[in-house]
Formats: sequence, structure tokens, C-alpha cells
Amino acid sequence: MADNLAPSIEGAPVLDLAEFDGAAFDLDGVITRTATVHAAAWKRLFDAFLARRAARMREEFRPFDAEGDYLRHVDGKPRLDGVRDFLRSRAIVLPDGEPDDPPERETVCSLGNGKDALFRQLLARKGVEVFDGSVAFIRRLRGAGLKTAVVSASKNTVPILKAAGLADLFDACVDGVEAERLGLEGKPSPDTFLHAAKVLGVPPKRILGVEDSLAGVEAIRAAGFGLAVGVDRTGHGAALAAHGAGVVVPDLTALHLRAKEAGDPARDLRVREGAQACGPSADLPLWPSADPEWVLVEEGFTPTREHEVESLFTIGNGYIGSRAALAEGSSLSAPETFIAGVFDTRPGASPELATLPEWEHLSITVEGQPLRLDLGRFLEHRRILDLRQAIVWREWQHQDAAGRLTRIRGLRLASAADRHLLVGSVAFSPENFSGLMSLDASIGGLVSKRTATGAAVALAAATRFIGFDRTTAAEDRATPRPLRVDLGKVYRLDRVVAVHTSRDSGSPELVAREHADRAIESELAALIDGHRSAWMERWRASDVRIGGDPAAQRALRFAIYHLLSAANPEDERTSIGARGLTGSAYKGHVFWDTEIFMLPFFTLTYPEAARALLKYRYHTLPAARRRAAQFGHRGALYAWESADTGEDVTPSLVSLPGGETIRVLTGEQEQHISADVAYAVWSYWHATGDQEFLLGAGAEILLETARFWASRAERGEDGRCHIRGVIGPDEYHETVDDNAYTNGMAKWNLLTGERVARLVAERWPERWQALSAGIGLRPDEPAEWLTVARDMYTGLDEATGLMEQFRGYFELEDIDLGAFEPRNAPVDVLLGRERVQRSKIIKQPDVVMLLHLLWDDYPPAVREANFRYYEPRCAHGSSLSPAIHALVAARLGDPELATRYFRQAVDIDLADNMGNAAGGVHAAALGGLWQAVVFGFAGLRLTDHGPEHHPNLPPHWGGLSMRIMWRGRTHDLNLPPAGGAAGPQPGRRSDG
Ligand code: BGC
Repeated sequence: MADNLAPSIEGAPVLDLAEFDGAAFDLDGVITRTATVHAAAWKRLFDAFLARRAARMREEFRPFDAEGDYLRHVDGKPRLDGVRDFLRSRAIVLPDGEPDDPPERETVCSLGNGKDALFRQLLARKGVEVFDGSVAFIRRLRGAGLKTAVVSASKNTVPILKAAGLADLFDACVDGVEAERLGLEGKPSPDTFLHAAKVLGVPPKRILGVEDSLAGVEAIRAAGFGLAVGVDRTGHGAALAAHGAGVVVPDLTALHLRAKEAGDPARDLRVREGAQACGPSADLPLWPSADPEWVLVEEGFTPTREHEVESLFTIGNGYIGSRAALAEGSSLSAPETFIAGVFDTRPGASPELATLPEWEHLSITVEGQPLRLDLGRFLEHRRILDLRQAIVWREWQHQDAAGRLTRIRGLRLASAADRHLLVGSVAFSPENFSGLMSLDASIGGLVSKRTATGAAVALAAATRFIGFDRTTAAEDRATPRPLRVDLGKVYRLDRVVAVHTSRDSGSPELVAREHADRAIESELAALIDGHRSAWMERWRASDVRIGGDPAAQRALRFAIYHLLSAANPEDERTSIGARGLTGSAYKGHVFWDTEIFMLPFFTLTYPEAARALLKYRYHTLPAARRRAAQFGHRGALYAWESADTGEDVTPSLVSLPGGETIRVLTGEQEQHISADVAYAVWSYWHATGDQEFLLGAGAEILLETARFWASRAERGEDGRCHIRGVIGPDEYHETVDDNAYTNGMAKWNLLTGERVARLVAERWPERWQALSAGIGLRPDEPAEWLTVARDMYTGLDEATGLMEQFRGYFELEDIDLGAFEPRNAPVDVLLGRERVQRSKIIKQPDVVMLLHLLWDDYPPAVREANFRYYEPRCAHGSSLSPAIHALVAARLGDPELATRYFRQAVDIDLADNMGNAAGGVHAAALGGLWQAVVFGFAGLRLTDHGPEHHPNLPPHWGGLSMRIMWRGRTHDLNLPPAGGAAGPQPGRRSDG
């Protein structure tokens, strides 16, 4: 037994913590039970290889021994070393090959790649098992002030730790990726352990290393660590001791710990599960997710992209949204933070989201030199949008003119656990100097502002400095006084900003101040933990997993991240604007985008949020009634663009790129919005069975919108009902009669109004009495709605199956859009507005949109004919367009075309293919993307009997799985790849 182990109590060795300041742990077999997964992956790989080789060489096939061969030749070593060493044991020599060698090449690299792929497959299937005793042991060490590191040859270390929820357990991670980057030799060489010691800033003598592999204990010994603890779970304890383990235990729970301050045996603590986590350390207590399917990484600093990055990397929690401007600023940075429902109005203009004072401002100077990307030189700079944890990270290594190197790591989040709270933290470390640093983090402590609409907004900040001589907690002060910083040490500034408005409380300043003061009392790790748990819960309900297409997977998660960031189930007085809270385009106004494009996601994965969004429409029903009356109609006409009150706030004029100013007619004419709201209400009720909502809000919306259409439609000489002078979803054609979408949706609204009237009257007669009396509904009105619906002009030509988009559309000029490809400007800019208006070119799906929403109302031939007719005529002048085309193409069984449109939809934000992502992410397009996957590729259908799916997955997808909520129960959908072994089963009911 090693001499820094105290005599045992109850026969167990006692570790004297006074001897150590740090601990380094191997991963596989010590912290996680991935060793068996590794062994299984190696076995599959080598057995296939050996069998092939034996057949070829006419030799006997001797399989890989998952115990003996594994422990002796590959365990603990870098992957390629493992391949070489095992092959050597069988006297086989292969060329090294190239790093991305495919499986068919017999090289060391190709075998290494095959092992990794098999390992990931097995891991995905089996998940990560954790040794609870080890986790408790590590927490206990951290609680005693030891710094901890993970040192593993595995290149999958970070994803494994993340998957196991253990990433916050370590101050340093030296894994296969890092070792390769730094050119460190793998175990049994001491390199990786020595590097961990350096990162921890602890001398090797004061570190204990924990390993289960022979190569590992040798490496710890060679690194000169104070103690090598061997973990023997497989009966190789004697070998571990022979290779240098000072003590061998079957599990870390077998070690007693003697607390640092005590020599008193009463203070000896046995490691227990649930022991408390560590105290504050100056570095950030967490890392970004490492799985590329969960992160968006912006490397470097590209000034021309900066506003786009600010949009894409916005953090939000439905109450507040904050664009990702650089905290220290740059000549381009435009910090903007918005609060849902808080608008400002410039004289003569329509309301726009109010911009809050900058909350994250931070100026750092080193010996008088400002740390800014546009001054000096950055050796490394990256921003990471961590979709899983909903945190934006920053990693930056700056070199000033004098060559001083400073490393900066930062994070920012809008708390999902406490919606009024923004959290930011920056850790910095002088890498090659000691000197004076000054920090100015002042935002003035408490800032309050009153918007033109009269809302008071208060921001209160509190900061905490860690690592400096003095600790300044619970105060927000500029700290221009230079502080001394020492080479290699880490310093940190935590900041919380509480935001309250007069919409939430009578004295927002007071509430914000108290809130910030209270929040700064919590450790950063605790603030992050609450936020992460809230997000984990959301992801559990909302994640959609796509196999075999990492780009699609990441894009879909990006969409879901922004949808979730925009939702707040606690607030039914606000809705989601066209760009959420990620930018000022469309001024924060709410369109049909919310109900038709985003709501299905919420209804099926986050019904509380969907309900709150629909309640916004209920609270704005009085304004919708006034608007219908203003046009001389009955019922409710919702605002095309809506803000806080529900009045129509569509700007009346707009300036075109050429300087021309034109009247905007959408506010008056895009009346389909009323049917769109009704459609979302019914869909929500259908999917949730939320009776309280139906009776308290939904039915009234359905009745009042039906009533509007009954009074809006005019009976023509042909005996049919017509809706004249409208704009449909295709905004290139204005003041048209009998727009197919408007008429089709109005008809649906009338029928559904009657249906809900019958339903409520039959099932809840008392409520019906009150409701119909409350809105003054005549008993014969619902029957009249049926008549209008029956006689509604639809534009359907029975012979061709085509629906004319509006009266006279078929006579318009047919322009071949293909002739303008590749097109890099909107078609109305290329051809001029008037020419487009006189043509059949459409901005976005209109008839096709109707098919999507009312799919079962049209026979397959009609769906096919209309899609094939209108699809080539669509110019996709709206971001709403490509996803719906993807969805309908997939449903029609054309996954190839659907995939093309899906990629176009993905690129709207991620590749800025419309050139306007700087104004915020396109929330409807993101909702559309989700729908394209769920209703299109997965073919989800919500029938009266429950969810069904008719999948049309792209051929390269390796399956899809997701979960939806249906009438209070979760349903898991697990779809195999198209043509996969299990085969898609059309019309299969999903599992409840
Ligand atoms: C589209 C509308 C959409 C609006 C806001 C317009 O370009 O044509 O359908 O509601 O943008 O996203």
C-alpha cells in the first residue's frame, strides 16, 4: 500500500485528502461502464476482419478475446495504437493508411474508423451507464477543494460525459481529441496525465490518479503522481498492482476519505451517493456540448456575417430574447434585447418591439490595451450555440500588440427556470504574463426605461468577481480600478440581470433589484443547473432524432431550439412575432405564422405553450370584433399584423428597394388570418381534448370567426357564395376574388363553427346558453353557416382537378421561372411588381397550402394535379414557402423533391439564403421545417382515432424517432429507415 494512504478503518484504505490538491480519472471502466461497449465494438470489428483474413489466407479463424486481448492490447490506449498492438500480437502488419479511410481499405486507420462507428452505434443503442460510486467520490473530492480532471484516450469522452450528465464534474478534460491536437503520446506514456496536471495548475506529486487499465496505471506512475489508484472490476487486481497501482479497490466506494482539516477519525467520511457538489472554482463550471448534432459553431470573426450571427445565436425564454452581440463591442455590434409584448411606437409609425438597454457590456483592458476582436489579434475565437443546454459559449484567445496572451471563456443564457433572469459569465486567464487588468462591467446597476406605449421596464444587475484579491458580490459597479492578475490563474466575472416591467408588477424597479440581489447569492453552477434541467425536460418532450443525416438533425434541433426559446406558457397576453425575439424585422408583429406554421409543434409537444398562444387570440378577440364591424361585417376579423392589443398594426406604406413607396394592402385584405386562427384553435382542441380551453375561449373564437365569414361572403348571381377583394397567402396578387385558400379555409371555418355549436349545445347545454347569449348568437345562425359553406365557390375544375388560385388566374401570363435560375434576387425585383402581378408567378404556396391544411378533404388526384401545377410557378419569395413544399412533396411520395425543398428551408437561416437573417430568425420557416419532418417525412396524421403515420423518409435517413402528446398521453414514434429491415408500415398506428 502506498505511503500516502492512512491505515485502513474497517479494513478499507483511507485516503488522506491533506496529501492532494487534484485528482485525475480515466473514463471507461472508472467513471462510466463504457469499457464493455468498447470491448464489444473491438470484438465485432476484429472478428469480422480476422474471419475475412482467415478465409483469404486459408488459415484457422481465431477470434478476438473480449477479455484477454482487450485488456492486454487495446484497453486504455489511443484507438490506432490499440489496432496496431493487437495486430502485432497476431503478427499482422497493415499499412497505416489515411485518416478517413473507408472500411473496405484494410489499413490501421480504416479499422480504427470502423471501431469508432461500431462504438457509437452501440452507445446510441445502449446509452451510457455510470458508476454511481465514482461520481459520488469525485463530487466528494471537489467538495473538499480538489481540482478534478478526466484523462482518457477516447475521442468520444465529451459526448459520453454529456450524455451521462457529468460534464460539470471536471475542471480539465484531456481526451483523445485534445491529445491529438497537442501531439501528446497516449498511455502508457505519461504525457496526457502530465498535461492534465498543467491544466489543473497542480504539481503531479499532489495529484491522485485513478485507472482501471494497465497502461493507465503505468502512465500515472510515470507522470510522478502522488498515488495511482487501481480499480479492479474484472479480477485483474494483481496485474494492476504489478504495473504500479499504490492501492487496488473493487470500486471507489471502498475508499475512505479523511477530510483535509482533520486528523480526527470522526471526520472520516465514507463516500456516499448524493454527496454535495463542489464549491466555486474560478473557471466556468461547465463545457459546451461537444456533439456536432447539438451545436452551431461560428469560428473566427467575419464582420459581414456579424448581424446574422447575432440573430442565429440569440438566447431566449419566451419572456426575453437577447441577440448575441459581442459583450465588448466591435464597430459592427448591435446589441438588442427584447421583451415579449413590450412595444415602442415612433410618431406616425406602427408599434415595434422596444429595445432594452445593453445588459452584457464588458470592457476589459490589459495593461491599458482593450481586449477587442477588431483590435490586436485573436489566435482563436469561436462562438458556440449549444442547442441542448441553451447556452451561448465563447472561446477566445487574444494577443495584444505587446504579445500578451489572454484566454477568455464566456457563457450567456436566458434562464428557462427563472424567466426574468439573464445570466452571463466570463472567465479569463493571463497565459504568458502577470499584470494589471481592468474590467468595466457597468450597466448602471439599475436601469429603467419607459416605452412610448407607457410600459416601464427595469433591469437590475448584480455581479460577482471570483479569483481576484477581493470578492465583490451582489453589486454592480464599474471596476475601472486595475486589478492585479497572475500568469496561469483563472479569474471570473459572473453577472445576473433581472428584468421586470410594469406588465408584470406595480413596481418593476424594486422587484428587479431584489431579484438580482437574490439571484447573485446562488452559485453560477446552480443558476446553470436550473436552466439546464428546464431545457432537458423540454428536449425530452420535443426532440426529434434523425439517423444518418447529421446536418438535417442539427438543423431540426436549431429550429426546435428557437421555437422553444420563443414560448412562454406562463404568459397568455403575448404571442410570437414573425422573428420571435431574435430581431427587429417585422417589428415583433404577430402574423398567421404563429398559428399555421409554429403552433402544430407546440400543440403536439408543448401543449401548455400552445394554449397560452391561443389565449392571446382570445384576449384580442374584442379588437377582432371591432375590426370586423369597422369593415361592416359581423363576427371577428383578426388583425393581419397584431401587437399587444390586437388592433391591426400593419404598416400602411412600405418603401421598395428602388426608393418607390407603395401602399400595403395586406392589412385590409389578408383576411384568411381569421380562418387560420380558427384552424389552430380546432387543431389544439382535437389534439388535446382541453375542455376548459374549448369552453372558456376556443368555442367563442370558432363561432365568431364563422360568423365573420357568413357575413363576409356575398351571394352571386350564379347562386354561389363569393369572397371578393382579398389577398391570399400569395401576396404577389392583390385585390383578387375567390382566392382558393381564403374560400377553402372560410368554408372549413363555417363548417367547424357549426360543428362546435352543435357539440357545445349537446354536451354542455348550460355553457351553450351562456356562450350564445354572451355573443348574441341567433339560433338559426349555425344552420346558415352550413348553407354558406355548401355554396362557397371553390374554383375546382372537376375535369382537370385543378383549383384556380383566384378568378382569372389561369388567363395570366405563364413565365418560366426556370429560365431565371440560378436566381439571386426575388422575382418581383427582377421582373418588376406589375409584370409579376400580371403573371402566374406566385410568392408562396396558396392552393398547395390549402391542400396541406385540409389534406383529407381532397382526393389524391386533386392533390397531385395541383401540386404539380403550382409548384413550378412558385418563386418562394417568402421564407414560409420551401418547408410546405417539402411537406407536401413528401406526402405525395416524392422524397427526392421533398429533400431538395427541405434543404432550401434549412438554408433560410443557416445559410442566410434569403439574405435577411440579420433581422432575426424566420420563426415560421422553423416551424415549417418541423412540420415538413413530422407531417411530411414521418407522415404523421392526426385522425379521430389517434395518431397514425405514413412515412416517406428520405432514402439516406437511418430512421426517425420522436414523441408527441396526444390527448394527455405520450406517443412514441420510431420509424425504421425507408426500405429498412422492419420496413415502413403505411397507416401504422403509433405506440401509445
Ligand atoms: C409572407 C407572409 C408572412 C409574413 C411574415 C410575408 O413575406 O408573405 O405570409 O406572414 O411575411 O412572416
